[in-house]
Amino acid sequence: MSTSGQDGDFWRGERDAIFRRETGEEWGAYLGLFHLGIPQDMAVGLRKRLSLKTFVETGTHIGTTSYWASRQFDHVITIEANQALYDRSQKKLAGAHNVELLFGSSPIVLRSFVAKLERPALFWLDAHWSGPGTAGQDYQCPVLEEIVVVDSGEHQHIIMIDDARLFMNPLPSLLRPEAWPTLPVIIDHLRQRFPDAYLMVHADVIVRVPAESRDALETLMHNSVTSPLARINTAVKQGARKVRDALK
Ligand SMILES: C[S@@+](CC[C@H](N)C(=O)[O-])C[C@H]1O[C@@H](n2cnc3c(N)ncnc32)[C@H](O)[C@@H]1O
Repeated sequence: MSTSGQDGDFWRGERDAIFRRETGEEWGAYLGLFHLGIPQDMAVGLRKRLSLKTFVETGTHIGTTSYWASRQFDHVITIEANQALYDRSQKKLAGAHNVELLFGSSPIVLRSFVAKLERPALFWLDAHWSGPGTAGQDYQCPVLEEIVVVDSGEHQHIIMIDDARLFMNPLPSLLRPEAWPTLPVIIDHLRQRFPDAYLMVHADVIVRVPAESRDALETLMHNSVTSPLARINTAVKQGARKVRDALK
């Protein structure tokens, strides 16, 4: 029996462990397969390069991303439609005084404040049904309505939409396909008001920036892929050298 499969598994395990240690993320994220949560380096990079102050999240869940964002942005607004998750997040975010936690369905709540935003903000659109104990079983994915509301104000906001794979592939059987838009329909919506906006899918996230911010986004993407890859390559090479030396 060939041992190549076992070797492959060994190296894959090593690579994954090193990658997780080096980056705090999963290797698959950098293959475009999945990403757990917001790509933090990209969000912070966009904040710095585009002088963003406000972070808006739809779908608070248990407040993980909004808590993180409270330490990165001046002002955070997050929206949750499930009462139990809202209550839980209220406790978690109690000490984060720059976070506004709002209750209700995202398109309706967004409509209550988008027109009042005084400058472009970063929108993290992540509200969708995520199984039992979360909101949205009857309205599983409000993202199209959210985009329309986000673009109804004065500014061209930065938009990041999580879980890009769900708009490009067959859905898990728990979800109703007719309730989820496809990627082309999302792109049409993202370009409806701003036809020259620049779009990218990176690490399972659809990102939209104004055309003039294309270079900034591409540089951030390049850095977020190449620096962890360079580190992991070095670490794997060092590991391989140690194994070779031990076998001599
Ligand atoms: C994938 S989770 C969000 C994870 C969170 N954004 C994070 O980064 O940690 C999706 C959340 O959206 C909520 N949700 C679903 N439909 C919603 C809606 N129409 N308005 C607001 N929240 C909604 C669910 O209850 C669930 O908590």
